[in-house]
Amino acid sequence: LTFPPGFKFGAATAAYQVEGAWNVSDKGESIWDHYSHGPRSMILNHDTGDVACDSYNNWERDIEMAAELGLHYYRFSISWPRLLPKGFDYKISEDGKAYYNKLIDGLLQKGIEPMITLYHFDLPQSLQDLGGWTNPLIADWFADYARVVFSLFGDRVKMWLTINEPIVICDMTYKAGYNPPAIYSPYFGAYLCNKYILMAHAKAWRVYDEEFKAKYHGKVSLAQHLLWIEPATDSDKDLADIAMQASAGRYSHPIFSEEGGWPPALEKAVEELSKKRGLLKSVLPPFTQEEIELVKGTHDFYGFNLYTSRLIKAKTEDTVDRWPQTDAADLGAVLLEANEWGKSSVNWLSVHPEAIRRQLNWLKKNYGDLEYVITENGMATSSGLQDEDRVNYYKKYLAQVLLAIKEDVINVTHYTAWSLMDNFEWMYGYSVRFGLYEVDYSDPQRKRTPRQSAKYYANVIKSNSFDVPS
Ligand code: GAL
Repeated sequence: LTFPPGFKFGAATAAYQVEGAWNVSDKGESIWDHYSHGPRSMILNHDTGDVACDSYNNWERDIEMAAELGLHYYRFSISWPRLLPKGFDYKISEDGKAYYNKLIDGLLQKGIEPMITLYHFDLPQSLQDLGGWTNPLIADWFADYARVVFSLFGDRVKMWLTINEPIVICDMTYKAGYNPPAIYSPYFGAYLCNKYILMAHAKAWRVYDEEFKAKYHGKVSLAQHLLWIEPATDSDKDLADIAMQASAGRYSHPIFSEEGGWPPALEKAVEELSKKRGLLKSVLPPFTQEEIELVKGTHDFYGFNLYTSRLIKAKTEDTVDRWPQTDAADLGAVLLEANEWGKSSVNWLSVHPEAIRRQLNWLKKNYGDLEYVITENGMATSSGLQDEDRVNYYKKYLAQVLLAIKEDVINVTHYTAWSLMDNFEWMYGYSVRFGLYEVDYSDPQRKRTPRQSAKYYANVIKSNSFDVPS
């Protein structure tokens, strides 16, 4: 029941969710700063990430926690506006640079590798004002930013993720009009974002590949958000296949498939949808042949976050759609949850451990025998240190990952728990807790205390097995 030798366990956070210090020194404003401070904020309780876990000041404690768990690596993200206050690369913040240097060096001193995400939702507001992810030029702005990061930290950091969850960025921002900058543009904005976010990833990957790889020998990919979708009945099988291509495939096929470009099933679905909406042509921006080549193959592994699953079913008159702003709705379908799946303390996350193994098999079937890196997996519970539910979640999902490795011969090399500690959970503010460590938000120091799950995870890492006491 042990993981292969050399298998790595980590835990993750993201800059806006933990750092706080939103306006120290010359740090620029991010879209989350801007939105959370503004009158349109729909964040629960009007929470903000102004202080969050105050990791800007508590970085030594964060490293200590990573060491207590015995993590092989710690995944965190760089705040683009902290490092480049203007968004563009002509001005680098000395303060931002010093902060990330301290964190990287501190981790390495304890033998913990840093795994860095370049972009985890906190766009510089200055670039949002110029159109953000719907402006084609963002691909170059992002590549310039990536070059700065690689040149400052590439000597010590070997695992990189360009963008966290393109699907969440495009859909929650433009399709649902929910996450900042909360621009409701489901007919156009979401699709522009689809294309330019892929172009941005690809250009950043090529910057590393061409300018840094020979010297630093690191690996670069992105962190996909995967929602495992199964047919509710036998007659919904085709629907489930299309829905997987419209979600996972939309952001994976252009990068990981042999032919590149949009998945044909998605092109067809959006073409039909556009016609139905009375548009003169498909809203999915085409790739030129040159762009297909530019994006194709821009990976050194496949990284993904997976939390939950859905059933898909053709829409009938009496079906209630809990998730209307999704690709499934565009396909004339609804998403449901199976009664037998377990619950968590957030409405969108139900517990279905087999999903992670099935998802890995789907990926291998579609994109081949790649190195697979699980960049996030975890569950929300209410507060309290006895988090039996979270322990069980990890145990069951890890058991499925091990089956995928041993029975299905899938090359999974890393598993990342979300999250190292409770943090600012986006639109849910501080009401939702994902941490191995509990954070006391009433304490000015933001004291962190290990939960039962932290002890369990430390044992997992020590014995290289999921079947351990907590
Ligand atoms: C992911 C996201 C994380 C975290 C997690 C739990 O989608 O990357 O930042 O919030 O979900 O909801």
